[in-house]
Amino acid sequence: MTIERDQCIDAGSEYCPCYLAEMNCCITCTRLKNKDYCDCNWRGVCIYQEYHYLNYKKKDPRQYQEVNILQREEVGNNLLIFTLKTPHTLARQLKQPGSYIFIRNRNLEHYFDIPISIMEVDESNDYIKIAVEIHGVKTQSIKDINDTLLIRGPYWNGLFGLEHLKKAKNLKCLFITRGVAQAPAILAINYLMRNNNEVDVVIDPGKAYIKLIEEYTKANVIEDGYDLYSQEGKGMLRKHLTDGKYQLVFVGGSDYLQENLLKIFEDYNDLNLVLTNNKEICCGEGICGACVVYDADGIPIRSCKTQIVHKK
Ligand SMILES: Cc1cc2nc3c(=O)[nH]c(=O)nc-3n(C[C@H](O)[C@H](O)[C@H](O)COP(=O)(O)OP(=O)(O)OC[C@H]3O[C@@H](n4cnc5c(N)ncnc54)[C@H](O)[C@@H]3O)c2cc1C
Ligand code: FES
Repeated sequence: MTIERDQCIDAGSEYCPCYLAEMNCCITCTRLKNKDYCDCNWRGVCIYQEYHYLNYKKKDPRQYQEVNILQREEVGNNLLIFTLKTPHTLARQLKQPGSYIFIRNRNLEHYFDIPISIMEVDESNDYIKIAVEIHGVKTQSIKDINDTLLIRGPYWNGLFGLEHLKKAKNLKCLFITRGVAQAPAILAINYLMRNNNEVDVVIDPGKAYIKLIEEYTKANVIEDGYDLYSQEGKGMLRKHLTDGKYQLVFVGGSDYLQENLLKIFEDYNDLNLVLTNNKEICCGEGICGACVVYDADGIPIRSCKTQIVHKK
């Protein structure tokens, strides 16, 4: 399995052109990559033209804002569910599957920023829900917070294969999720179900034994007790993949889990894959390099902004 670079997730958005254009490192536009010819496959408004109209300046980047915590719920030992009041525009922007924000304790510096997926959006009442599993230094820093959080967003590259989700209509979809990766799955499931797709779900509750999907979606949970790393778990998946005739498969779990399951998917043709982006995302703006992965030619890809395609 190799990976290939696809579109910049921010191309054509209100955050494009960005710092990368000013630094001659645009992901999409060759002219903004120190070349003197046009060779992009971007079908939206020309990024170079936009940059020219802006007098060779980037658009304003995302800013931090302090938002109120409307509700803080503890689930089990180490999971917190926050309901956050957001401006209306931000709630609308975060409805896209794959959306995430950075959250931070307001008393700490920017390097405590934590990328966290959006689980649910209520656009009428302007709030979002996120689920945070407490692990190490960054997540410990927000564990006792119950009044406000600093947030930065919207960001959209929390899933790879977004194109498959956006095109899906009347499809049979299988969601395979483990642990807290159920959170980004929920936004994607509700999006697919609004577009008339059928969604079956296999949940491995993971070490935290959480089952969020039943609570936040109307999807059909077909299994929720298997360990997906076990032979029994893999056998169960093969059976469903064979019997279910799925056209779209979503895997929400660590890169290690994804690698394990990709080997199974190789035996099935025509499966469109959607995967959670589990890279170490730090700035989210394509600058710091924390999220870099390499394509087959060893060229670095900044996965916080770039959609990645997995090839057999
Ligand atoms: C796009 C995106 C969306 C995300 N969405 C969510 C979300 O919705 N909810 C959520 O909870 N998280 C989410 N994450 C992950 C979250 O950002 C990280 O868990 C968080 O940044 C970890 O920071 P930390 O300093 O608390 O933990 P770190 O210390 O950096 O730990 C990171 C990972 O290492 C593991 N780890 C740490 N210490 C040990 C150890 N001693 N032994 C074995 N393993 C260990 C942890 O289990 C964890 O998986 C998302 C990440 C990305 C990139
Ligand atoms: S997270 Fe900084 S470049 Fe991607």
